Amino acid sequence: MARIAYVNGRYRPLCDRAGGGPIAIEDRGYQFADGVYEVVKVVRGRPCDLDRHLARLARSLAALDMPQPMAPGALRAVLREVWRRNRLSTGVLYLQVTRGVAPRRHLCAADIRPSLVVTARAPAFPGEAEVTGGVGVITLPDQRWGRCDIKAIGLLPNVLARRQAAERGCREAWLVDPDGMVTEGTSSNAYIVDRSGRLITHPLGARVLAGITRSLILELAARADIEVVERPFSPDEARAASEAALSSTTSWLLPVVAIDQQPIGDGRPGPVVRRLMALYGDHVGSLAAAVRPQDVWVSRQING
Ligand code: PDD
Repeated sequence: MARIAYVNGRYRPLCDRAGGGPIAIEDRGYQFADGVYEVVKVVRGRPCDLDRHLARLARSLAALDMPQPMAPGALRAVLREVWRRNRLSTGVLYLQVTRGVAPRRHLCAADIRPSLVVTARAPAFPGEAEVTGGVGVITLPDQRWGRCDIKAIGLLPNVLARRQAAERGCREAWLVDPDGMVTEGTSSNAYIVDRSGRLITHPLGARVLAGITRSLILELAARADIEVVERPFSPDEARAASEAALSSTTSWLLPVVAIDQQPIGDGRPGPVVRRLMALYGDHVGSLAAAVRPQDVWVSRQING
């Protein structure tokens, strides 16, 4: 079945490999990476933490001095309709807003209309082996710009670092800033657990994205009496930690069991991370199970 995308007012098949798709060549997202995005997890037809994602989208847009592409209620309706048309149950929604279409000049008119694209796809969540056995990461210099708190579509340093991680058989690259501290991964937040069982992660600010999953993990940890310390940590401290983890909408919370090929703790997922994985799983499960008919975008009968 063709995947259906929402593109500037129309629902249409996702463009085929031959190109000629619905995106204008002079869209500023395409030519300048002048835009922002969100990735939202949907479980059994229920979008997870959508309010938080839309609040972050509003912050990203405001930071780039871009208007909302449409009223929040209309945007929710578009997300719901894309999901419905793709006949998916569980997966992810991708939502991208760019400044709009204009002749290619760095400076464009202030009043051009933003472009909105929404796509949906089946899940590419971590497999059993990664969830139960954990994953490896490498550390690399953080070569990104100074506003990593904005969820901007310009991801070249992230993509290049991720390629290096994959070449070395690792799931993720943890990025190290000029002060020698781990900021986050190329598409996930980074955590370690110290010998006292404290969960440590980089504080919010311009050097990291305020991950939605991160916000939930910290809230769940606090509720479970796991002490949370928001401070930077170095690769040396990370390699000596008793546990480590990464989180994102698509990775959920995943144990990190090796950093730069060096095992963390005993090289297996540890108790604090496993506990938080279970709590986050319960959180997602409770969202999916908290069924109010109006919240369920596709009935379970369709997709099981
Ligand atoms: N990435 N840090 C970076 C740089 C990210 O790109 C992401 C998300 C995160 C985690 O944020 P959240 O928990 O809100 O997903 C942290 C998305 C999933 C992506 O680019 O596909």
